[in-house]
Amino acid sequence: MNSLIQRQIAFNRSSNNAWDAFSEHRNQVTSLLKYGSDSSRLCILGAGNCNDLDLTTLIHSHPEIHLVDLDGDALAQGVAKQNLADQGHIYLHSGIDLTGMIDPISHWSPNTPLSKTDIAACIDAPTHCLGQLPGPFDVVASTCLLSQLIKSIVDTIGEDHPQFVEVIQAIRLGHLRLLLKLLNSGGWGVLVTDVVSSDSYPPLASVPTQNLSQVLVQLIRQGNFFHGVNPAAIVNLFGQDPVLSQQVASLEPVGPWHWNFGPRHYAVIAVKFQKR
Ligand SMILES: C[S@@+](CC[C@H](N)C(=O)[O-])C[C@H]1O[C@@H](n2cnc3c(N)ncnc32)[C@H](O)[C@@H]1O
Repeated sequence: MNSLIQRQIAFNRSSNNAWDAFSEHRNQVTSLLKYGSDSSRLCILGAGNCNDLDLTTLIHSHPEIHLVDLDGDALAQGVAKQNLADQGHIYLHSGIDLTGMIDPISHWSPNTPLSKTDIAACIDAPTHCLGQLPGPFDVVASTCLLSQLIKSIVDTIGEDHPQFVEVIQAIRLGHLRLLLKLLNSGGWGVLVTDVVSSDSYPPLASVPTQNLSQVLVQLIRQGNFFHGVNPAAIVNLFGQDPVLSQQVASLEPVGPWHWNFGPRHYAVIAVKFQKR
C-alpha cells in the first residue's frame, strides 16, 4: 500500500480511543457545523475516526451527512462507536484521496525535480474526487485535514526542496478551491485546522483559552507553527486568489481553541465562509 496512506491509517489507529480527550474540540467543531435546514446536506472531508464530530447532534440539523476519508475502517468504526452504523442518513465515502495526487506524491523525494505541471496538478487534481461525491452540499467542512495534506509534502520532498513553499501553497489553494467547488451557491464552508502543537510549544496545554489567541500570535511571529496554516495567510488567500475571491461572499475567522489529542495538544482555528 502507498506509504502515505499507511501513515494516515496508523495515525488514525493511534487516536481511535480518544473520544473523551477530544470533548472540547468536538464541541467546537460540532457547534460550527450544526446549523442546517430541513433538507440540508453536510459533507465532512477528513472525517477519520469522527472523534471530533457529534454525529447525533449533527443529524438533527442535516438530514444527510457525507463523511469522506482515505481510511474507510476509521470512518466505519467511528460511526459505529456513535451507534449510528445503521442510520440510513449517514453516507461513508472511503478510500477517496482529496489531493488527487497521493500516488505521485508518495514517490517524491528531496531530489525529485518538480515541474510547473506538477505544481499546477497540486492545485487542480483535488477536483478528481468530484465525480465520486454526490455534491454540491449545503455545508462542507475540512476537519484538521489541511495540515495532514501539507505534512505529506514535508515528509516526502522535505523543507529544503527548492519548490517546497510553492508546493505547499499549491496544495493549500487546491484544497480551498475544492471546498468551494463542493458547495451549493449560498452554502457554508468551514475550514478547521490545527496550527501548532505542544511538541514545539510544550506549555500549550496550560494556556487558558482566553489567552490562546495572544499566544498564537507570538508563536506565529516566531515561526512556531505548522507549514501552510498561518491563519492570517489563509484569510488573505481568500481575498487574493481570483477564484476564491470571486466566489466568497463573506468570511469569519473563529477560535483559536484547544484540541487535547491525548499524547499532545494542538491549537486549532477555523475559517467559516459563505459561497455567493
Ligand atoms: C487529523 S485527522 C482528522 C481528525 C478526525 N476528524 C478524527 O476525529 O479522528 C485527518 C484525517 O484526514 C485523512 N486524510 C489524510 N490525507 C488524506 C487525503 N489525501 N485524502 C483523504 N483523506 C485524507 C486521514 O485519514 C485522517 O482521517
